[in-house]
Formats: sequence, structure tokens, C-alpha cells
Amino acid sequence: MATHFRSNEQAGEDATQAAEAEGVEAPTAAGEGTSASAAPGAADAGAGEGPDPVHVVTAKTDITPVDAPSANPAPSVYDPLRGDDVAVVPHTGTPTISFRNVTLIYPAQPNKPALDDISLDIYPGEFVFVVGHSGSGKSTFLRLLTREIRATKGQVLVAGQDLTKMRNWKVPYLRRQIGTVFQDFKLLPDKTVYGNVAFALECIGKPKSVVKAQVPEVLRLVGLAEKMDNYPDQLSGGEQQRVSVARAMVNRPPLLVCDEPTGNLDPAISLGIMKLLDRINRTGTTVVMATHDREMVDSMRRRVIALEAGHVVRDQERGGYGFYGSL
Ligand SMILES: Nc1ncnc2c1ncn2[C@@H]1O[C@H](COP(=O)(O)OP(=O)(O)OP(=O)(O)O)[C@@H](O)[C@H]1O
Ligand SMILES: [Mg+2]
Repeated sequence: MATHFRSNEQAGEDATQAAEAEGVEAPTAAGEGTSASAAPGAADAGAGEGPDPVHVVTAKTDITPVDAPSANPAPSVYDPLRGDDVAVVPHTGTPTISFRNVTLIYPAQPNKPALDDISLDIYPGEFVFVVGHSGSGKSTFLRLLTREIRATKGQVLVAGQDLTKMRNWKVPYLRRQIGTVFQDFKLLPDKTVYGNVAFALECIGKPKSVVKAQVPEVLRLVGLAEKMDNYPDQLSGGEQQRVSVARAMVNRPPLLVCDEPTGNLDPAISLGIMKLLDRINRTGTTVVMATHDREMVDSMRRRVIALEAGHVVRDQERGGYGFYGSL
């Protein structure tokens, strides 16, 4: 094995046991934590409405830094996932991901780098949101991690390996260590839920006994044990996305890369997906996720990397979404 991730086997077992101990959350269309006060519309009843004798807004205090949490945030469905209890991961040791002066130029746009001289490190166990306008470079950033594309300049290191120099034959080995979740679930329509998840293991040559043991276990974890014989077109969007999360994590990868995994889902369903990703992260898996979901990022208070026209314009522990105009 050419990669140098730490083993995540135990972490995966812990996640399963934790899920079994507390009962799988099985997010449903009704959604958890979606009381009337936490409904999406409640966000409109935000700061400024209703008298608050303690937080009087004066000329001195009404200019809040764009990346600071609101003093009196509106309730959100994501509030239960607030990461305040999660210790900030120390930035020491070998990073899981290292970008060193990375520039990416697509041949179709030779004069406009999609990423321009990016340098940053992401450490094992971090949960990182990548935010920014449409076209700012979020997907490009993620595609470099799986070596879907190769940096034009600079170095991309994942688990200590330089992907810019990695030989093509080694790339499948790298990808075994990275789970990926996308906005469009990319499920195989002619395979059942079980078959879709099993396929991820079969592709990397796992023996039948392992497939038989791990697939039901991970489907229990995502709350889909009852639906393992269903086909994707018999599932809701949230259920399909949970299948794709199950598929991404069945091999217990130490790194999960998600490109707008909740982009097509309503907030209640997104909450179920985020609970899963949060739990996976709490077992030690590094999660890097591109999103446009302001409410989610503002509520969860994890590390935020903001891109603008291919540049990192903010990198903040416990960050918020920040201010962007219409996306
Ligand atoms: N295959 C490609 N060929 C040429 N240019 C591309 C290609 N893919 C992306 N780009 C350009 O690179 C820049 C960054 O695109 P990218 O897809 O990374 O943005 P993004 O932040 O993920 O946007 P969105 O929020 O819409 O998904 C954009 O200017 C885009 O037009
Ligand atoms: Mg994108």
C-alpha cells in the first residue's frame, strides 16, 4: 500500500457502535430538530426583530465583522451540530492535506487560473468547510485532492504523498483512502441499495465475507437497513444521499471529500446528512466539504476556508459563512 494514512478501522467501528448504542438517527422527511421555531423560515426572524433590552444595537456595535458569529443568531436546524464541544484540532504533525503554492489553470481558460498560488494545511480529524461564490474554485480544490486533475504549479500532498508527481497506476490506491460524496448522488440505477454500497468494496477486491459483514453494518449506521433491497428510484433524495454517504464510508477511509452533498436537499433532510458527516468526523475522519449553505456553516462553527476567484481570502477556526452577495 502506497499511502500513509493512519488506520481508520477502529474509528469506523467506534462510529458503528456509537450509532447502535444510541440508535441510528434515521433522519426522516419529518426531520429531527425541525420544530416550528427551527423551521427554515425562522431564519427570517433574525437579528433586529423584537426588542432585546440586553443586546441594544447602537452605532458602535452594528458593524459586525463578516466572519464573526452573530450576537443573536436566528435558530437553525443545524444548531444541534454546533461544534463548540469539539476541540480545535492542533496544527502539528503531518497534515492530511498540504497545498504548497498551488496554481490550477484549465486549458480552456489559460489566462484565468481557477486556483492561484494556494498554500494551506488540513490536519487529521479536522472538519473543514470550503465556501465561496460559484466559480471561486471550490470543486477545483476538491478535484485536486483525488487527483482527478493535476496542479499546474506547486505541490498537492495528501497523507504525505505528492499527488503532482504520483504515477497514474498509484491513483486508484490513493482513491481507496478517500471517500467522496457529491451533490448528484451518482448511484447505479440498476443496483439495489445493498448492491450500490457493496459495489464500492467489490471494486477494490474485498472478499465476499467482508462485503457481507460491512455493507449491512454501514447501512444500519446511515439508517437504511430496512431499505437495502430497494432501488435508487424507490428512495427519496435524502435517502439516496445517505446511500452515497454509506458507499463513501464503507471502506472506512480516513478522508471524506464532499462537494455540496446537501445542495439538492431541503434543510430537514440536509440535517440528517450533516449528522452523519459530523459523527463520522468525530470518530477521527478528516472531512472537507464545499457548500453554499450559509445557515449550516454559521451554525456548525467549524474551520472555514473561503475562496474568491481562486484565492484563499479567509481561513478561520470556528468560522462563519461570511458575507457574499447573491451566489
Ligand atoms: N473543466 C473546466 N474547464 C475550464 N474551466 C473550468 C473547468 N472547470 C471549472 N472551470 C472554471 O474554473 C473556475 C472554478 O470552477 P469551480 O468549478 O472550481 O468553481 P466552484 O467554486 O466549485 O463553483 P460552484 O459553486 O458553481 O460549484 C471557474 O471559473 C470555472 O469556470
Ligand atoms: Mg463546484
